[in-house]
Amino acid sequence: MKVLLVGDVVGAVGRKMVADHVLRIKEEEKIDLVVCNGENSAHGKGITKKIYAQLLNSGVDVITMGNHTFSKKNLEEVIDEMDQMVRPANMQPLEFGKGCRVVEVNQKKVAITNLIGEVFMVNCTEPPFDTMEKILNEIDADIHIVDLHAEATSEKIAFTYEFAQRCSIIVGTHTHVQTADERIVDDHCAAITDLGMCGPYHSVIGRDVDEVLRRFKNKEHTRFTIAEGKGIFCGCIVEIDDDTNKAVSIKRIQMKEQ
Ligand code: FE2
Repeated sequence: MKVLLVGDVVGAVGRKMVADHVLRIKEEEKIDLVVCNGENSAHGKGITKKIYAQLLNSGVDVITMGNHTFSKKNLEEVIDEMDQMVRPANMQPLEFGKGCRVVEVNQKKVAITNLIGEVFMVNCTEPPFDTMEKILNEIDADIHIVDLHAEATSEKIAFTYEFAQRCSIIVGTHTHVQTADERIVDDHCAAITDLGMCGPYHSVIGRDVDEVLRRFKNKEHTRFTIAEGKGIFCGCIVEIDDDTNKAVSIKRIQMKEQ
């Protein structure tokens, strides 16, 4: 089985990058499942039902989220209709949507879990370590895939070591900067500390450079407008052995629009 994992989609430029590349990569690489972080896809914060549908039409199979899951008004009312989405299983409010979903791919049960980090993050209800332990005990799946949406590299790496023997893929998201540490941990789990983003390349993690500079330098309360211009596409392709359900390779993708 081959899985394409796509980093945080930021605003219109990010959505364009997904539309330009995911279906093509899916076909060229014979991808069986596409998991994409969509928590910044609606103008940098949150997601709407329309954008959810747009990402699925671009070839995404499951959308993971993060700290901005509920940033757009009324998502709580429609999230239960969005059955190809997972939201952090350990983040308030807990009553809307699901933190883990099991999908069938090539006759295998694949569980996709979304968690939020505890370090430097808000609204975390319990350490991701505790939530993951419960999910592994409760969910019946052949393959576990996790998106740990977290700020601290140390937390994401420690989490990976804790669960590598029971998960096939653990990726980090949220920083929007791709790390070059893709690897197979414990001969079992494909991992990368952060997938990076799909969004405007000339930006400060997706935001307009001048506005962010004014905020840092002059303490101005700028709006953090999403940057425009050429895009970057970041992600990874993981191959999982069909006999053992162990990850055997991880390839990092980073493409810049010319
Ligand atoms: Fe985030």
